[in-house]
Amino acid sequence: MDKLSSFFATDGVDPNKVPKRTLYTGAKMPAIGIGTFGSDRFSGEDIAEAVKGAISVGYRHIDCAAVYCNEHLIGKSLQEAMQAGIKREELWITSKIWNDMHGDGDILLSCAKTLKDLQLDYLDLYLVHWPYPNYHAPGVDVDSRDPHARPYIHEEYMKVWRQMERLVEMGLVKHIGTSNMTIPKMKLLLRDAKIKPACNEMELHPHFQQPEFFKFVMDNGIFPIGFCPIGSPTRPDRDKTETDTVDIQDPVILKIAKRLNVHPAVVCVKWAVQRGQIPIPFSIHRNEYLSNLMCSVVDPLTEEEMKEIAGIDKNCRLIKGQVFLWQGAKDWQDLWDLDGKIAQ
Ligand SMILES: NC(=O)c1ccc[n+]([C@@H]2O[C@H](COP(=O)([O-])OP(=O)(O)OC[C@H]3O[C@@H](n4cnc5c(N)ncnc54)[C@H](OP(=O)(O)O)[C@@H]3O)[C@@H](O)[C@H]2O)c1
Repeated sequence: MDKLSSFFATDGVDPNKVPKRTLYTGAKMPAIGIGTFGSDRFSGEDIAEAVKGAISVGYRHIDCAAVYCNEHLIGKSLQEAMQAGIKREELWITSKIWNDMHGDGDILLSCAKTLKDLQLDYLDLYLVHWPYPNYHAPGVDVDSRDPHARPYIHEEYMKVWRQMERLVEMGLVKHIGTSNMTIPKMKLLLRDAKIKPACNEMELHPHFQQPEFFKFVMDNGIFPIGFCPIGSPTRPDRDKTETDTVDIQDPVILKIAKRLNVHPAVVCVKWAVQRGQIPIPFSIHRNEYLSNLMCSVVDPLTEEEMKEIAGIDKNCRLIKGQVFLWQGAKDWQDLWDLDGKIAQ
């Protein structure tokens, strides 16, 4: 057996059949990727193995971040895939700059470290992970606060963005984008950016559809990448609150799952691809990540089912971001500019 045939799964999905999204630059991005944040549940080795497995079954889009602390292991998986015959240009690799690296020169340093860890010479997409420089140590409780935390300061964000633009000019990244933004913050960025964001990574699942923000980014030629597409059902307890709802227990999702004879998680992923966002479901289990990819190419949901899912939005944000709050902030809602103004 040659190198190529021993790496690739025979029951995988043909990556050419996976839908693509055309960004404003003309670049084509796979309409579904695999997440790589294992929180404290999975080791970096488990996740790197899953990335290798995911590529072998047909994934070409991997969502990474420096703060997930596993890029050096994922880099080895990417190398193995490329040694098996996958060309660099067939892959779509995203990474993100963490909040403690927003200072002058830090973004170039951080990007260089990510490239070295991932063993790549460019990224397809580099995101500002949060629009705040506020730091919190991995794994801390939601009540933990950074005493130096500050609200959003647009002039500071633009200094970060200028460094991001520089990375494009240097050829280290093909596209830049945002994450955990709001409409008011995005309006300022669009006003002042030389290079417009290509994508905005945001929480999107059936119980948190963000219709207004979704429309805003689409209308502005920015693709929404949807994180927690399944509603992150097995996230650590410290990240759950009493009012959180569970997408994969919703009667509408359960009914459609029964019709298709799939896990309710798969219905969430399918809905996401069909609605037009780019979901990045996470799993280290082969049967799960394979069915998540498979559902993007088979058995579309009916128009009626799409309407039914549109009707179950509960505006239930799961990643509230409490740890990024600054002194004087009321509560986590201040991070999300709910009244249309940037909270100070
Ligand atoms: N930009 C940001 O700030 C941000 C924030 C959060 C997440 N993210 C990204 O988004 C990715 C996904 O988010 P997430 O991991 O929190 O949540 P998620 O993808 O909504 O949920 C992942 C969990 O769903 C279960 N699952 C996945 N596929 C399944 C299937 N086919 N059948 C049954 N269960 C299935 C798995 O549970 P088990 O493990 O128990 O099987 C898995 O741990 C992250 O890995 C990360 O890359 C980005």
